[in-house]
Amino acid sequence: MKAVELFAGIGGFRIACDELGLETVWANDIDPKASRVYRDRFGPEVHVEGDIATLVDSVPDHDLLTAGFPCQPFSSAGKKLGIEDVRGTLFEKIVWVLNKKKPRYFVLENVKRLLSMDKGAHFATILDALSDLGYFVEWRLLNAVDFSLPQNRERIVIIGHLDKAPLTYLCTEQDLSGLTDRQMAQVGNPDRWSDIRDHSAKFLNWGMALEGRFCHANIESFSESKPFVKLDSVLERSPDRSFFFTEDTLARIRNSEVVNRYFNGVEILYNQKGGARMGYSIFGTSGVAPTLTCTTSRHYERYKVGNEFRRLTNVEYARIQGFPDHHCQGITRYDQYSLYGNAVPPQLVKWVIARLLQGAGRRLDSRALQCELL
Ligand SMILES: C[S@@+](CC[C@H](N)C(=O)[O-])C[C@H]1O[C@@H](n2cnc3c(N)ncnc32)[C@H](O)[C@@H]1O
Repeated sequence: MKAVELFAGIGGFRIACDELGLETVWANDIDPKASRVYRDRFGPEVHVEGDIATLVDSVPDHDLLTAGFPCQPFSSAGKKLGIEDVRGTLFEKIVWVLNKKKPRYFVLENVKRLLSMDKGAHFATILDALSDLGYFVEWRLLNAVDFSLPQNRERIVIIGHLDKAPLTYLCTEQDLSGLTDRQMAQVGNPDRWSDIRDHSAKFLNWGMALEGRFCHANIESFSESKPFVKLDSVLERSPDRSFFFTEDTLARIRNSEVVNRYFNGVEILYNQKGGARMGYSIFGTSGVAPTLTCTTSRHYERYKVGNEFRRLTNVEYARIQGFPDHHCQGITRYDQYSLYGNAVPPQLVKWVIARLLQGAGRRLDSRALQCELL
C-alpha cells in the first residue's frame, strides 16, 4: 500500500503510516521549518517543499491520500456546484488529486468547528465535493484524550472509500447501540438520506455521505477508547529554569479568582478576574492539557507543577501530541511549539487508518432492515 501525505507539516500521518507498514511515496508542505523537520526525521527522498498549487501534477499513484488541510472560506459555499464550489482553495487541490488519481482511500483531518462554520455550508460543500467524486464518505469527531494522550483535542476525521454499501469504519457495533431503531433504519438505507443541501446549521458528530446525500447522528460513546493518561505523568521532572515564572504568576494570582474545577478534563485553578479567557487561566496537572495550538500567546500558558508555576516545555508539547521527544530537534524552541500545535496526533489517525486497512467496515443495511421490520 502506498500513501501520499498532503499538507504534511511535521509528519503526524507519516508516523502513523510507517507504524502500519504503509510506504509513503510523496509528501508536501510549503513551510520551510516543517519541511526541514520532515526531511530530518524521515529522509529527503519523498518530501517536496513548495506550494501544492504548483505541484499537484507531480503527485504519483497511491492507495491512500492523507491530509490535515488548512481551513479557508469557500466563496461560493453551499451553491451546490459540486467540485466547482471549492474553486481557488487548498481543499480544491485535495479534490483535484482524488479526482485524478482515485486512490482507494482517503483520510482528512480538521478542526471541530468545520462542522458548524458558515452555518453548516462549509462542511456541506466538503461533503458534496467528496461524494461527487464517487467516494463513500464517513466522518467522526474524535478526541486525543481517547488515544492515551493528555490533551482535550477534538478533531474531525473524514474518510472516503470506494465501496458503495452503507458501511461504517469509524463506529463499532457498541458505539451504534445508542441509536434508536428509527435512526438505524435510516442510516443503513441511503435512499432515506437527506439531500446535502438540506443540512442544518451544525452537522452532528458522526455521519456518512454518498452521491449528494447524507445521514448523521450524535454518537455518545467511543468503545475503542484507550486508557486515560494525566498531564502530570508526561511532564519533564527537571526542566530548564527558563520555563518557570513563579514570582510573576504569584503576583497574577492576587488578581485572579479561584476556580478549582475541571472543564473538558482540563483542571483550571485560577482565572483572571473579570474574564474567563483561557489565556489568563492557570492550569493544574491532574487533568489533561487544553488543545495545543500554533498561537504563540498560548505557548506561555501557566501550569502549577508542585509548588511552582511554569509553562510547558517543547518536549512536553511533543509528548502531549504523541510525538517522540526530539522530533523537532534542530528547530528553535519557539518554533517547535507552533509545529507541534499544528500537527495531528499520530495515534489518533493511526487508529483510523488501521480500521480502513483491516477492512473493519461494518455493513449497516442488514441491521437497518431488521429495525425496519420491528
Ligand atoms: C494543519 S497543518 C497540518 C499538519 C500535519 N498534519 C502535521 O502532522 O504536522 C497544515 C499544513 O499545511 C501547510 N500549507 C499551507 N498552505 C500550503 C500550501 N499552499 N501548499 C502546501 N502546504 C501548505 C502548512 O505549512 C501546514 O504545515
